[in-house]
Amino acid sequence: MPKVINVLFLAAEAEPFVKVGGLGDVAGSLPRALRALSNDEVHLDVRIVLPYHPVVKAENLKPLGVFSIKHGDIEVQAEAFETTLEGVPVYFIDGDPIRANGSVYSSDAKLDTEKYAFFSFAALELPHHIQWMPNVIHANDWHTALSIYGSLAKSWEEGSHRIASVFTLHNLPFMGADVSAVLERYGIKLAQTDLPEWARVLPLPLGLWASDAIVAVSPTYGKEILTPEYGCGLQEFLQMRGETVGGILNGLDVVSFNPATDAALSANFDLESLERRAVNKTALLDKIGLPWIPDTPLIAVVSRMDVQKGIDLAFTALKSLKKLNWQAVILGTGDLKLEAAALKLQELYPERIKIITRYDASLARQIYAGADMLLMPSRYEPCGLSQMIAMRYGCIPVVRAAGGLNDTVTQGKTGFVFEKIHHLSLMAAIKSALKVFPDRAAWQALQRAGMSQDFSWENSAKKYLELYQSIIKS
Ligand code: GLC
Repeated sequence: MPKVINVLFLAAEAEPFVKVGGLGDVAGSLPRALRALSNDEVHLDVRIVLPYHPVVKAENLKPLGVFSIKHGDIEVQAEAFETTLEGVPVYFIDGDPIRANGSVYSSDAKLDTEKYAFFSFAALELPHHIQWMPNVIHANDWHTALSIYGSLAKSWEEGSHRIASVFTLHNLPFMGADVSAVLERYGIKLAQTDLPEWARVLPLPLGLWASDAIVAVSPTYGKEILTPEYGCGLQEFLQMRGETVGGILNGLDVVSFNPATDAALSANFDLESLERRAVNKTALLDKIGLPWIPDTPLIAVVSRMDVQKGIDLAFTALKSLKKLNWQAVILGTGDLKLEAAALKLQELYPERIKIITRYDASLARQIYAGADMLLMPSRYEPCGLSQMIAMRYGCIPVVRAAGGLNDTVTQGKTGFVFEKIHHLSLMAAIKSALKVFPDRAAWQALQRAGMSQDFSWENSAKKYLELYQSIIKS
């Protein structure tokens, strides 16, 4: 009989039900990859729990009934539903605090705090309701951090067995808002923690504090968060946690993101038919309304318009490189100021720059398959997905050596890497890329090296399995 490990995996979003950002990709893929590791020795029963946001798209939901959780002198009701995702059980939790807040993440911190606190505590009750007990609670980011904290607080209160826990950090700066009043209403004590004072009432630090293992989404980010530059004030606390802080690189859904089968492309291609990529470039230029000019590289940015992503550096760099030969396409929405700056750039050079300010997953794929290089000048990047997709699609990444970018792109071998958060550093990297571009053999060598990388989830899932095993033991 294989040894069974039950994992309750909590996230605010997961593909294909609801996706806002990279967290949704991870939460949709990792549980499936973990389950697929099951063999004669170990059976990984990973189950996903998500809030039943009004925007969730899910079919054939099976109602599991209503249960209640303590809330001051009254009780609040939660309702659970079940479906499956390629064999992985998925539970949705509904309730007033979730319905009260239409979007996945709102700009109203209070609404978000209420919603995710309710979700985290209801998710802890769910196992009793379905009579399936987790050996590990695996939370992601601040939204679900209180499940780990709540589980620990309850085990103290009830003198019961403590469930092992893993906290995956996708984005440290987002810590949630003061939850002291909320905790009190749910009857959960605020512990005396060794966190910095300001952090003692915030969901993310409380979750980190209570967890057995802290996993950043790349080895480099796992080290960066120990420094004042990236640690957001928690660096000393994280340093003290020593061995329990690490990094595991996210994988990529290599079945969905496969240039040989991707239905969004004009021409499918692989390592043996790299020349067919040109068809995608022509189709892309045509679609976005730029002329095809021989020997002119197409530079792309596919990104949320966010200061984190260093998009502003890309704008300045492109402006300063106006004398060189290139075209550019920028796809993304977000920060209105950045969107306006992007459109201004297009006004300056309408004949060579196209800006598309919307979220468009299939155009993004066409860009990865048709553009020659992808800029990612991120100020910080816990892992990053676009650089991996770009490499898989023969588009050469030009990235800053931050977080997962540093772990996935190798200077001169699979892309171009620069260090400083400054447009001059980015400019120098773009210039080196533009210099190599005319040398077809050298460029193709970069493309082939990138396309040959293995970014599949299996490697990451194996590391998470080892981690589960080691924390259950101790
Ligand atoms: C966040 C990070 C991104 C990471 C993603 C998934 O969105 O900003 O770098 O790839 O989470 O872990």
